[in-house]
Amino acid sequence: MLTRILKTDKHNPSRRVLEEAASVLKSGGLVAFPTETVYGLGADAFNEEAVLKIFKAKKRPPDNPVIVHISNVDMLKEVSTSVPKRVERLIEDLWPGPLTIVVPRSQKVPAVVSAGLETVAVRMPAHNVALGLIKHFGSPIAAPSANLSGRPSPTNARDVYEDLNGVIDMIIDAGETFIGVESTVIHVTESKSVILRPGPIPIETLRKYLSDIEVHPSILTGNFQGTPASPGMKYRHYAPKAEMVVVEGVYDRVSEKIVETALEYLKSGLKVGCIVSEETARKLPSSVMIEVLAPRNRLDLVAKRLFSALRNMDRRNPDIIIAEGFPEEGIGMAIQNRLRKAAGYRILKA
Ligand code: TXA
Ligand code: MG
Repeated sequence: MLTRILKTDKHNPSRRVLEEAASVLKSGGLVAFPTETVYGLGADAFNEEAVLKIFKAKKRPPDNPVIVHISNVDMLKEVSTSVPKRVERLIEDLWPGPLTIVVPRSQKVPAVVSAGLETVAVRMPAHNVALGLIKHFGSPIAAPSANLSGRPSPTNARDVYEDLNGVIDMIIDAGETFIGVESTVIHVTESKSVILRPGPIPIETLRKYLSDIEVHPSILTGNFQGTPASPGMKYRHYAPKAEMVVVEGVYDRVSEKIVETALEYLKSGLKVGCIVSEETARKLPSSVMIEVLAPRNRLDLVAKRLFSALRNMDRRNPDIIIAEGFPEEGIGMAIQNRLRKAAGYRILKA
C-alpha cells in the first residue's frame, strides 16, 4: 500500500487536507494525524472492519482497547450510555485537552474498539488538525498512538512513517506535537475515581475536581495482580532494543551514580547510551552516546523530548542505556511511568 503524506499547518490546517483525510476515513481507511500529545492512528470508530485494520497495522494485541476521539460533547453522549455527574465540570474545564475518560460504552461503538470491555475511553484533543479532522469526518475517530505496538509513541510524522509506512493510507504531517506524552486516562464512577495512566493532566489538578482520585497501584511499580484495570498497563512499552536502567533518587546522587555507572560499563567494553538532563550531560565523558532531554527543572520539555530521545538512542545502537529519573510532580509522574516501562522496571536507586 502506498502511504500518502499530506503536509499542513498545525494551527490553521488546510481544508483540502482535512477533506481528503476525512474521505479516506469514510471509505474505511487509516489516517495518522497529530494531536497535542502524540500522533494517533485513526479509523471510523463506528466501522468494525476499519478499527480491526488499526490492530493489524500496529500489530497491537487484540485485548488492548483504543481511545475514541470526539470534537463535541454530543459525540460523548453518542458513544456512552451514561456519564457520571461528577465528571461534568472536569469536562467543561479540561476539554479539549489531554484527558481521557473511561465511561460505559454504547452499543453504537463496536466491541473491538474496547477490546470487548463494557466501557469506552473517550477524549477531545486540543489540536486544530485533530479537531478539524473529526469535524470534517462528522463522527468519532478511534485512534491509538500511531506507533508499532511496543515502540515509543510518535511525536512527529517521520516517526509515524518509520513504523507504519506501507501499511496505512495517509499521514497528516503537521510537525511536532505540543506535549509529547500521551493523555492522562481516568476511570470515574459514582463511588471511585482512578488514574489508569498518568499523563499531562497531573493528579494535583484532578484532585481539585475529584477529591477521592487515586493512582492505580500498578502504575509506578509495574506489578499486576489479576486482571489489569486498563489492558495497556500490562504490556512492555516504549522498549528500546538495548537493556535500559533508570537511575532514581536525590539529584546530586543521581548524576553521580549515572557517571559512575557509565564509566563502569565503558570499562567493560560496552557501548553506553545515556538519556539525561542538560546538567548531567555536562558531567559525562565524550565516549558516551548522549541524548539530552532538557534542563532538570523543565519537566514540560523533558516530556516533549522523551520519546524522540528513546527512538534516537535506539537508532544509535548502544549495548546498554542509562536514563535519568525525574521528580514525580506534575507531568513528572507520566515521565517516570514511561521511563520505568521502557526500562522494564529496572531501577537503580542512587
Ligand atoms: O494522548 C493519547 O491518549 C494518544 C492520542 C493519539 O490521543 N492516544 C493513545 O492511545 O495513547 P493508546 O491506544 O496508545 O493508549 C490508550 C490507553 C491504553 O493504555 C488502553 O489500555 C487504555 O488507554 N484504554 C483504552 N480503552 C480503555 C478502557 N475502556 N478501559 C480502560 N483502559 C482503556
Ligand atoms: Mg500507545
